[in-house]
Amino acid sequence: MRIDLITVLPNLVRSPLDHSILQRAQEKGLVEIHVHDLRDWGLGSYRQIDDLPYGGGGGMVLRPEPLFACVESLQENLGEPYDEIIYLTPDGETLDQPLANRLSLSKNLLLIAGHYKGIDQRVRDTLVTREISIGDYVLSGGELPALVLIDALARLIPGVIGDANSALSDSFQDGLLDAPAYTRPPEFNGMSVPVVLTSGDHNAILSWREEQRLEKTQRLRPDLLPPKHEESVE
Ligand code: ADE
Repeated sequence: MRIDLITVLPNLVRSPLDHSILQRAQEKGLVEIHVHDLRDWGLGSYRQIDDLPYGGGGGMVLRPEPLFACVESLQENLGEPYDEIIYLTPDGETLDQPLANRLSLSKNLLLIAGHYKGIDQRVRDTLVTREISIGDYVLSGGELPALVLIDALARLIPGVIGDANSALSDSFQDGLLDAPAYTRPPEFNGMSVPVVLTSGDHNAILSWREEQRLEKTQRLRPDLLPPKHEESVE
């Protein structure tokens, strides 16, 4: 998968992309991530990228010309249409596991991280194909949401996570939270690891995990469970 990210703060996003799983995914050639500084398409000698909002109000809005020029140039270099041009915004569809699963099958994605007071509506109306929010709260820009989206997608690409089953058995992957995890030592400050986990009985461990997942989801996130069928009364 190829991901292009347009941002006004390229240095803000570089470090998370250059560490851990995302770094290894890129080194293995499983994900190609290109960060583009919108200022390279800025206007005039000051490379202007933003301006005051028409109608007044606080904050600055990213102007359409640099964004159009940037997207057009990336599109031309790519040589084929992006599967999606995604704008990260609190107005968007909320990111969840099914959406991440679907997007992880894309060949190429273009992400736009807005800043200041957002981007000119004409970019959203014509270039953007999908708007995504990472939750009902407002951050100061789209960079962290873009990183969240990239991480959620990259780890689903086969080969990115060492254990092929691990991304699939994550919380949410089948609508349930994950079972509690334990490691050594078996006793710590008077707290012991559930005996079943050290029993070596694989089937017993699987059923224990399933029970734990159901119990934990019922307790912490009952909204994830399908509504119970109404008992039919004769
Ligand atoms: N930009 C600012 N807040 C955001 C959010 N919650 N999701 C996506 N993009 C954003």
